[in-house]
Amino acid sequence: MQTLAHVSLLSCNTFGMEAYAAHYSELHREEELLSLKDNPAYSSGLFILGGGSNILLTADVPQWILHNKIGGIERIKEDDSHVWIRAGAGEVWHRFVLYCVEQGYAGVENLSLIPGTVGAAPIQNIGAYGVEVKDVLEQVRFFDLEQQAFRSFTQAECRFGYRDSIFKGAMKGKAVITSVTFRLDKVPVFHTSYGNIRQELEAMGITELSIKHISDAVIRIRSAKLPDPKKIGNAGSFFKNPEVPDAVYLSLKEQYASLPGYPLDNGKTKIPAGWLIEQCGWKGYREGDYGVHKDQALVLVNYGKASGADIAALSVRIMDSVKQRFGIQLEREVQIIQPA
Ligand code: FAD
Ligand code: EPU
Repeated sequence: MQTLAHVSLLSCNTFGMEAYAAHYSELHREEELLSLKDNPAYSSGLFILGGGSNILLTADVPQWILHNKIGGIERIKEDDSHVWIRAGAGEVWHRFVLYCVEQGYAGVENLSLIPGTVGAAPIQNIGAYGVEVKDVLEQVRFFDLEQQAFRSFTQAECRFGYRDSIFKGAMKGKAVITSVTFRLDKVPVFHTSYGNIRQELEAMGITELSIKHISDAVIRIRSAKLPDPKKIGNAGSFFKNPEVPDAVYLSLKEQYASLPGYPLDNGKTKIPAGWLIEQCGWKGYREGDYGVHKDQALVLVNYGKASGADIAALSVRIMDSVKQRFGIQLEREVQIIQPA
């Protein structure tokens, strides 16, 4: 494994932040993990990087960046109704989705066009359009940095929640995910009730459903709604949608009749953070090269030369104003990488 010093991360993060890694290596094979400790860079600490689409770099990174490039997509078993596919953690998520759609393996089509890698998908249990990766995930294989050994977690052991998993909790910073195994359906179960998938399919003139049509519809909706990081730096939703007790939702609803809310089955209601942020007047806000996207208040953007610190500071101002007006504490989805 080649280790380079002082490497620019500009092309490795979708916010388009210029920052340097003190040490940088690409990880191509999982066996390379067994000798990590022998590398002098190991003492700086490790940061595992995938597609850089859920991080905000605010300064140079003093750690050793291990850029996950472990590839490979293979069918490992099948029965009459399911097929099991193992994908390397460094595979591009959307490429994996397109492979499944092409092969007719159903389950991930609603997750089309989410940026990033297969290995990062379980970290925050990526989700979109009524599906989360936990719905199709069978197993996560990782290298346990404490035990210096390869281990696997079943779906249940991953403790998935909304934008959450054990890899953001007890295993944070301790696991290098090397591959993920998915169980996909041979006979598709279509998920079309979320958002405007049905309207989009109608607009496309689709009368007979297929996973390819759903994937195409999701791609069209996402392309229209979310800024393309190649054109405007961003990391998708900057905050999670807050979940509040039903009573809190109902009392806010009395004050704000148009407040949207999606009842959950745990006595809580999910409120779209985009609505709260828009109500606080932030939608389309711009100062210099940083701001809040004009069509989606949940997305903070870099128009060119913004700094990560600017965007981090803006996120604090947004959180403060939402707290003050609605009494709701927003939680960031994007991980801010700060100097130690
Ligand atoms: P990175 O940003 O590189 O890393 C994220 C975190 O995971 C870091 O803590 C990193 O250390 C850790 N990590 C990465 N790989 C590994 C590994 N192999 N082992 C251990 N730790 C690892 N997310 C959604 O859920 N739904 C969406 O609809 C969605 N839409 C988006 C739209 C846009 C335009 C953008 C830019 C982002 C969007 N996201 C969405 C967020 C993002 O795509 C996901 O969080 C994605 O899974 C991040 O993958 P990544 O490889 O880029 O991770
Ligand atoms: N809304 C506003 N103003 C805005 C934006 C949204 O009022 O500027 C309100 C509207 O009521 C709208 C509702 O929020 O109907 C939901 O908006 P949208 O459908 O755009 O979805 P979201 O809640 O903003 C979530 C995920 C996305 C995911 C989409 C589709 C989170 C934090 N975000 O966004 O995931 O793609 O649903 O399923 O859960 C990501 O995690 O990075 C991400 C992009």
